[in-house]
Amino acid sequence: MVDARMNPEAPPAPEHTAIYRKDYQAPDWWVRHVALEFDLCAASTMVRSTLSVEKNGEHDRPLRLAGDDLRPLEVMVDGGEARWALDGSDLIIELDGNAAKVTTSVEIHPDRNSQLMGLYASGGLLCTQCESEGFRRITFHPDRPDILSTYEVMMRADKARFPILLANGNKVEEGELDEGRHFARWEDPFPKPSYLFALVAGDLAANADSFTTMNGRLIDLNIWVREKDLPRTGHAMQALKDSMRWDEEVYGREYDLDLFNIVAVDDFNFGAMENKGLNVFNSRFILADQDSATDDDYDAIAGVVAHEYFHNWSGNRVTCRDWFQLSLKEGFTVFRDQCFSQDMSSEAVKRIEDVRVLRAVQFPEDNGPLAHSVRPDSYIEITNFYTATVYNKGAELIRMMRTILGPDTFRAATDLYFDRHDGEAATCEDFVRCMEEAGGVDLTQFRLWYSQAGTPKVRVSLTHEGSTAKLTLQQEVPDTPGQSDKQPMVIPLKTALISAQSGAPLAERLVLLTEADQVELFEGIEEAPLLSINRDFSAPIIIESAREDSELEALAAFDDNAFARFEALQELMLRQLIRAVEDGTSPKADGVIAAVRNTLADERLEAALKAEAINVPSEAMIGERLELIDPDAVHRARAELAAAIGGALMDELKAAQADGAPGDDLSVAGKGKRKLRGVALGLIAASDPQAGAQLAKAHYDAADNMTDRQAALKVLSGLDAPERDAAFDAFYERYCGDSLTLDKWFALQAAAQRADTLEIVARLTAHPDFTMKNPNRLRALIGNFGANQWIFHDGSGRGYDLLARMVIEADRLNPQVAARLVPPLGRWRRYEPGRAAKMKAALETILAAEGLSKDVFEQVSKSLSLA
Ligand code: TRP
Ligand code: ZN
Repeated sequence: MVDARMNPEAPPAPEHTAIYRKDYQAPDWWVRHVALEFDLCAASTMVRSTLSVEKNGEHDRPLRLAGDDLRPLEVMVDGGEARWALDGSDLIIELDGNAAKVTTSVEIHPDRNSQLMGLYASGGLLCTQCESEGFRRITFHPDRPDILSTYEVMMRADKARFPILLANGNKVEEGELDEGRHFARWEDPFPKPSYLFALVAGDLAANADSFTTMNGRLIDLNIWVREKDLPRTGHAMQALKDSMRWDEEVYGREYDLDLFNIVAVDDFNFGAMENKGLNVFNSRFILADQDSATDDDYDAIAGVVAHEYFHNWSGNRVTCRDWFQLSLKEGFTVFRDQCFSQDMSSEAVKRIEDVRVLRAVQFPEDNGPLAHSVRPDSYIEITNFYTATVYNKGAELIRMMRTILGPDTFRAATDLYFDRHDGEAATCEDFVRCMEEAGGVDLTQFRLWYSQAGTPKVRVSLTHEGSTAKLTLQQEVPDTPGQSDKQPMVIPLKTALISAQSGAPLAERLVLLTEADQVELFEGIEEAPLLSINRDFSAPIIIESAREDSELEALAAFDDNAFARFEALQELMLRQLIRAVEDGTSPKADGVIAAVRNTLADERLEAALKAEAINVPSEAMIGERLELIDPDAVHRARAELAAAIGGALMDELKAAQADGAPGDDLSVAGKGKRKLRGVALGLIAASDPQAGAQLAKAHYDAADNMTDRQAALKVLSGLDAPERDAAFDAFYERYCGDSLTLDKWFALQAAAQRADTLEIVARLTAHPDFTMKNPNRLRALIGNFGANQWIFHDGSGRGYDLLARMVIEADRLNPQVAARLVPPLGRWRRYEPGRAAKMKAALETILAAEGLSKDVFEQVSKSLSLA
């Protein structure tokens, strides 16, 4: 076949074409059992696989096995000769009967695998990553999630180099071999799709513990790390045990194998992976101690450990029919881990954090060229769809269904779902049907949330006459690429009317907005009330309200819903910031200052909530609300508002800054104090940079924990003071041998709000500790740089050029990670024509690069609206 890329007139290369959800067909052949043999070595690993296949229905089509970068060394059918051919990278095998044993052998090279998909080497370990389509880089296989098989795995390796040999399921045999080699044989009794296959080999030590299930079964738990990291595994182990208990108590789900292994690896494309009985983690989501991890790191570890553990039911026992259904497991599992974290700490603060992420990442995605529905209709490269929309908006869909059903009915519905689909590959539709049946509700209209992309906007206004309050609602779902003229959605809005005099709630109701225009009447309301709406962020939408600033000030002072109170103060600040940007004036700070003062003084509020509420919205958040973003004006307005708050409330903020907590106090209150003192320090420095620098340096030097240290460094990072360099140098000296912690040093400099950040980032790309081979390091520097609105969008366009160069270079090593750096460039429609043209030019530069992966091709071409 002629390579289409050679001819500019030819259509795009075949591997760059889209796959459609509507084209789904059941497989021609099942694979009932997989027997694998590995002779493991970093340079060359031999893989022999025997698939027990069975014809699905009546047909005479051959068996088609996917391969990626594989060459068959041997192909056999039932131990004898096979009729086979290659079709591109697929292996086609003719089979006569209805069942056969198909054996193939290949040689792979883990140490040359820079994509970190399939079998690869990381810091002397050998490990696998198969989701979504990595198994085909290990052996020929249909590699689709609707084919479930039992697995047996024989591993052979040099014993000195790889003393620990792990795979899914249970170890059934181990022993010695010649020439210093040994073996282990593993069996996984639970049928699973190939994406959940895993093995790990290396010199590892375990934090070993156990858990007794609700039915009294004793489960062995191991967290495998390098020996020196053992002291940093305690928090992850506690989180694992907490998760196991929580899933029993809240969902009635018990763990099913007798063994649960977790391995931490340093080079990993995402956060972690839920392989059956053998979770593999990015080490940043396992390792923590007081000296190196922040409170946010501790929380993220607990959240990711829970997430992967919860996948054992929502993902593994019930898996996905095809990758368009990804949110079936990811949306539901994110929802489950969010609720776990809410139960383990502060419900309101965790909700605020989750909404912050949704708004910072998912709303822009939904509002840009890469917008897609929670259940996408097509993709070029599925890895590009592991997005905030599929994960986080997907979780909001589950949360809305729970709100509509109520918690007890929702539990009955999840029981039905797990019961009905256990051992199956299911669809989002299957999940919704269980909600409908157990809940006795009709979710026909609700299903639009799965198919319609874009963040709905709801305009609300409240009028009062006599004893009736009238709430008028109008919804609009914006056009997104490939989707226009959308239907109204079902939007559950937790709503309250609050007395403007006493702050007492006058009425509370779950408003189900189903029409484009809708009116809700509240009777028996004798005074003109305040409107508190979308409380707890009950729907993932944008509220546009005609409320006065004074109403927001009142809600910020006494709304009895903690989320709504936070929201009122944030909205109040955002309004002043947006007016200041649009009018080129200074933000009006009086009302904000009064509200911040109130919030700080309110003894009923937990410290973390105060910190969240008084934190001035980020530049990105302000930009998101503007039609056309002027990054310099946004930066100036935000800095001015922060300075005004800091100046007016210096004494209160200094008191908050001085009120620390010992580093070993990981209670909600202790964490809250540290969060608040960090925010306070930032506001002080915004108003008085010189005093701020001194205070931050003292804050840094006195710190006995990473939360305080990092908060101080973050404030210093934006200042032009000798204290800044001193602290960064000290940090480097202290942590340069600790790769995970050194990522923070790169990240803080890339996120710095300082005019020379662009030069600093460019220089850091040549730093001896910078490497693109490690995804965490690449994201720390380049990911944070792309997210630094003011710096990245420097009017010269040099930020765009730097990012384009990094994407092209990273793509040669690791397409999945490179593709995730592209989205900031895709936002060009939101910038003035000069910047927009430079952003498009950078995208075109990437597109013109030779041998571009389909991962980056898809992100870039969609960003330019070519695909
Ligand atoms: N299923 C994983 C999770 O959400 C995601 C994941 C881990 C992944 N590694 C990956 C997705 C590699 C794509 C490619 O928990
Ligand atoms: Zn997941």
